[in-house]
Amino acid sequence: MAEHRLDLLKNFPFRRIDELLTGLAPAQTPVFMQVGEPQAAVPALVAETITNTSALFGKYPPPAGSIGYREAVARWLERRYNLQANTVDATVQVSALCGSREGLFQAALMAILRKRDRLGDPSITPTVLVPNPMYHVYFGGAIVGGAEAVLVDTVAENSYVPNYAALPKDVLDRAAICYFCTPGNPTGAVATRAALTEMLALARKHDFVLAVDECYSEIWFDTPPAGGYDAAQDLGGTLDNLLVFNSLSKRSGSPGLRVGFVAGDPALIEPLLILRSYGGAQVPGPLMAAGEALWQDESHVIANRAHYLNLVEIADYHLGALEGFRRPEAGFFLWLNTKASVGDGETATRLLWQHAGIKVMPGRYMARPDPETGESPGDDSLRIALVHDPKTVDEAMRRIAQVLGTYKSTN
Ligand SMILES: Cc1ncc(COP(=O)(O)O)c(C=O)c1O
Repeated sequence: MAEHRLDLLKNFPFRRIDELLTGLAPAQTPVFMQVGEPQAAVPALVAETITNTSALFGKYPPPAGSIGYREAVARWLERRYNLQANTVDATVQVSALCGSREGLFQAALMAILRKRDRLGDPSITPTVLVPNPMYHVYFGGAIVGGAEAVLVDTVAENSYVPNYAALPKDVLDRAAICYFCTPGNPTGAVATRAALTEMLALARKHDFVLAVDECYSEIWFDTPPAGGYDAAQDLGGTLDNLLVFNSLSKRSGSPGLRVGFVAGDPALIEPLLILRSYGGAQVPGPLMAAGEALWQDESHVIANRAHYLNLVEIADYHLGALEGFRRPEAGFFLWLNTKASVGDGETATRLLWQHAGIKVMPGRYMARPDPETGESPGDDSLRIALVHDPKTVDEAMRRIAQVLGTYKSTN
């Protein structure tokens, strides 16, 4: 595996969809539902703030973010996770990120170096614990950092929450970092507060970094999902071994702004910042000012949630009767098992493109296959991003229901 690390990184999902659909013409006007890119208008606050602060383009931004931005995040964390006011110290617990992706990636590099130093024996390879299916950046961090990626299935049998505690002790002892994505992409599953607390306890026991990816935390339909700061509260309030990642891309429908944050254990934030001072990008001042304004405002987030709930209702209306349909608990992805309707996810993707003009993501491309069997826990599923306006989603769901229903008998 070691000599083919670059090859392992080549399989980025979007490329693979294009290859899968080569030569197939869509029969209807295409709707692109393979990418989780919110399509609604960006909050007006963004343009206003950038215009008013454009002089900041003339300054190098502070690598960890402006103090105003970090304070806005700290106060938001306190409100969101019912922490005592002014207990999140913005200067040591929070850093700005150019979107959470780069932070999630760099956290693996930092944690692998940290673990190597602690293991003190270059012949021991650290592990990186990754859910499968996954957001690919976790796997990329493991590979680039020279660690062993250990994949743990998130499937119906474990309610789509990875059971890392069941891994062998040796794997846990070597763990540098463990990625825990809740609400989950692609599964839409939400981990309980107890599960998060158990994970943080496990991270402390085996001294690895628990990286909680909370990118979808604000797109919920019923109750706000628990987060890493809740787990820390349950374990006495200290933040040891914890990093949480969040972003304005989904919460505020601003993926192009490229503004997010990492927060948590100051003893982890510091080395991450050192690493970022070599290879991390800084958030430009006016964009950071816009980010600050967005974390201070909840009204657009409330409207966003209502929008996504409506889209989930539309999907449920059209696809609810289909075997393999699951309402997402949070987030805006449908994780649809197509085995009983038309077969595996790649087959379904081709059919949907050809007959309905709907582009979706085969679940297999969000997962890594078992090297022995070639099978992956995403094989029988599709990921569909509910990110368009209600009319478009209604039309798309109608077409999807038709295709999955029509071709049922032919398989
Ligand atoms: C699970 C998950 N984490 C993190 C990200 C990164 O988002 P951003 O870099 O826009 O903050 C994404 C983006 O799609 C995601 O799906």
